[in-house]
Amino acid sequence: MTDHTSEIGNNTFLVTGSAGFIGYHVSRALLDHGARVVGLDNFNDYYSPALKQDRDGELRRYPKFVSVAADLTDLPALEALFEAHRPGKICHLAAQAGVRYSLVNPFAYQKSNLEGFLNLLELAKRFPPERLVYASSSSVYAGLTEMPFSETQRVDTPISLYAATKKADELMAHAYSHLFGLPTVGLRFFTVYGPWGRPDMAMWLFTEAMLKAQPIKVFNYGQM
Ligand SMILES: NC(=O)c1ccc[n+]([C@@H]2O[C@H](COP(=O)([O-])OP(=O)(O)OC[C@H]3O[C@@H](n4cnc5c(N)ncnc54)[C@H](O)[C@@H]3O)[C@@H](O)[C@H]2O)c1
Repeated sequence: MTDHTSEIGNNTFLVTGSAGFIGYHVSRALLDHGARVVGLDNFNDYYSPALKQDRDGELRRYPKFVSVAADLTDLPALEALFEAHRPGKICHLAAQAGVRYSLVNPFAYQKSNLEGFLNLLELAKRFPPERLVYASSSSVYAGLTEMPFSETQRVDTPISLYAATKKADELMAHAYSHLFGLPTVGLRFFTVYGPWGRPDMAMWLFTEAMLKAQPIKVFNYGQM
């Protein structure tokens, strides 16, 4: 494994969504490389909060991990975090994820993905990090017919509110980078899977169904 210790130094990373699937793995990798990690999560019940607590429990074994239970929409709590810890690098993974859930719970996306992200950008403006990496999503490519997808394609045809909020995040990050010199990088993850994964995603649902010898649920009438 490459030794990144010298690059990391004593820097403090803020990982939002640290009790989530990807945030947990990113936090653990950083801690394994000797970084100090402040993990923020609101432990919401979109899926099992117990699973999120278990991930957080694993991270708490590391002496350099600080767990902060707070919501991105709680601006004073976010301010207090930045005042106390002055993160040098930010990895923003907290969001309301899931495409189908956005059909029935649109305001969860407005809160976490729009208001929450704006709060984070405002704090990053006041306490400039060396870099702010944030999660966008492959769902911004939805509606495009030309394949393979590429970062240079225009993505103006979201077909879910989730995708629309992720595209909005990209636009907000672009504006803040332009106006305030914030060094932002957006990552358009495609389906991520692995240990400690998300119970609402196909890999987990299919595996669970197979273990119980039950049929798997396939969307779009098999036309994918
Ligand atoms: N897993 C994938 O395949 C995938 C694909 C594309 C994009 N993404 C994006 O990557 C990021 C991480 O995804 P994940 O799979 O780890 O999801 P996840 O739901 O497991 O993790 C997100 C975490 O953020 C927390 N959170 C949500 N809203 C919050 C708020 N307002 N304040 C504080 N914490 C909040 C949740 O409690 C959760 O623990 C998300 O932004 C998601 O949209 C994931």
